[in-house]
Amino acid sequence: MLKIKFIQNNGEERIVETYAGPTLMEAASAVGVEGIEAICGGSCICGTCQVYVESDVAVVGPPGEDELIVLGETGVQKSTSRLSCQIRLSESFDGMTFTVAPPRKG
Ligand code: FES
Repeated sequence: MLKIKFIQNNGEERIVETYAGPTLMEAASAVGVEGIEAICGGSCICGTCQVYVESDVAVVGPPGEDELIVLGETGVQKSTSRLSCQIRLSESFDGMTFTVAPPRKG
């Protein structure tokens, strides 16, 4: 069992209990974390599942080439940005915190 904290756009914190295996987006969507729209269903196209990594970035790893392009198109990218649909959860994610990115611009 993993516990992951999401900080939503409205400032509210959500603790999500999940497990290793699904993507971070799937874990967030399953319980309705606000702001994780995931319009493309995890295909690394829409950029509406963006999060900012608030914990150890090394655990999450860097974004891939395609992911970087999509992140750059959102207009709200930070150095710690990742697409949550591209993050596969493992036991190492227990206790991590992610801030949900604001809606993309344009
Ligand atoms: Fe569309 Fe992640 S769900 S890019």
